[in-house]
Amino acid sequence: MKNGQGTIKITINGALHELMIGRDIEPSETLSYLLREKLGLTGVKIACDQGACGACTVLLDGKAVLSCMILAMAADGREVVTVEGLGDNDPVIQAFAEQSEPGYGTAMQCGFCTPGFVMATKSLLNENPSPDLDEIKLGLSGNLCRCGCYPAVARAVERVVNQGVE
Ligand code: FES
Ligand code: FES
Repeated sequence: MKNGQGTIKITINGALHELMIGRDIEPSETLSYLLREKLGLTGVKIACDQGACGACTVLLDGKAVLSCMILAMAADGREVVTVEGLGDNDPVIQAFAEQSEPGYGTAMQCGFCTPGFVMATKSLLNENPSPDLDEIKLGLSGNLCRCGCYPAVARAVERVVNQGVE
């Protein structure tokens, strides 16, 4: 787990971070704490802090993980992507931002859950570029939205999928 002189190395949004244990990072710190509180990546939301809501979802080597449930040390040698690491033109972000179809509504009302949903969607599409509606619902079932935007979230993801095949 440790490299060399008590440091760990994590690639975060494309940049390599060397973190000295005891100075930059404590062994007990979660990945979400490191990302949000120490590195200022506030797109990582910490809501329940116990693995129940999906707000803190990030990609770890391309797969969605709940960053509040993983020690930062466990990301040593791995690649983390947060919502800040996606481009402004990312199709998932655009689909969430533009979703306003009558009958479905907006995919982000207060927006607090949105980064987690976006990252969970990225992971889902990494594994299955063409999920159907049931697969979308299942893939995002670990993410909670207090505002109840679920139909619009699913619709936004469907639009991303459909854009990919048009
Ligand atoms: S804050 Fe991590 S799952 Fe809720
Ligand atoms: S948009 Fe408000 S919690 Fe989901």
